[in-house]
Amino acid sequence: MDDIRDILSANRVVPVVVLDRVQDTAPLCEALLQGGIHAIEVTLRTEAAMAAIGEAAKRFPDMIVGAGTLLNANQITQVMDLGARFGVSPGSTPALLEAVSTKGLPFLPGGSSVSEFMALAEARFPVQKFFPAGAAGGPAFLKSLASPLADISFCPTGGINAENAEDYLALPNVIAVGGSWFVSADRIRNGAWPNITNDAKNIVTQFGDANS
Ligand code: 3PG
Repeated sequence: MDDIRDILSANRVVPVVVLDRVQDTAPLCEALLQGGIHAIEVTLRTEAAMAAIGEAAKRFPDMIVGAGTLLNANQITQVMDLGARFGVSPGSTPALLEAVSTKGLPFLPGGSSVSEFMALAEARFPVQKFFPAGAAGGPAFLKSLASPLADISFCPTGGINAENAEDYLALPNVIAVGGSWFVSADRIRNGAWPNITNDAKNIVTQFGDANS
């Protein structure tokens, strides 16, 4: 089983994608892999999402495929059966935490307050998603947690972009960032694969990636 810390420290910028059409999955994965990005979060926000996770996991063994926007425990077995290697949620519930622990899915639970972060750490989830990062306080908020919550590592998502990614990634308590800015719904709909590859290459050059 993978470890969420290992996945994120090797893949410091994780594209968060909303896929409306299953047929966009393969060209998107190809574009990202060509650009040197080897992990992706496919959000469960569309009807196509489950099939897209299966397609990406089956056809692209070099891509670590995660399932995002996990909201209930029933989805855990389903995404694992499809080949998802990690899960992400905007928040957490006791049922979700229990399901991922029992089934062994590397998991990034979300939170946006100090008490939520502490509760997740107490439940043995020291690597957490900070969401929605921009609206909940941005890099300044996370910076102020580095000393009191020194054992917690964050993956901020929500409002990350080419301009502010570096501000987050420079913090000692930020292991990775996630976002849709270079894999927007528009770009995917329009098949802007070369743009996605170019941005991925720039991101990997700037922030590194274990596979670069
Ligand atoms: C997420 O679920 O992490 C966010 O929706 C991604 O946010 P972004 O679209 O602002 O990057």
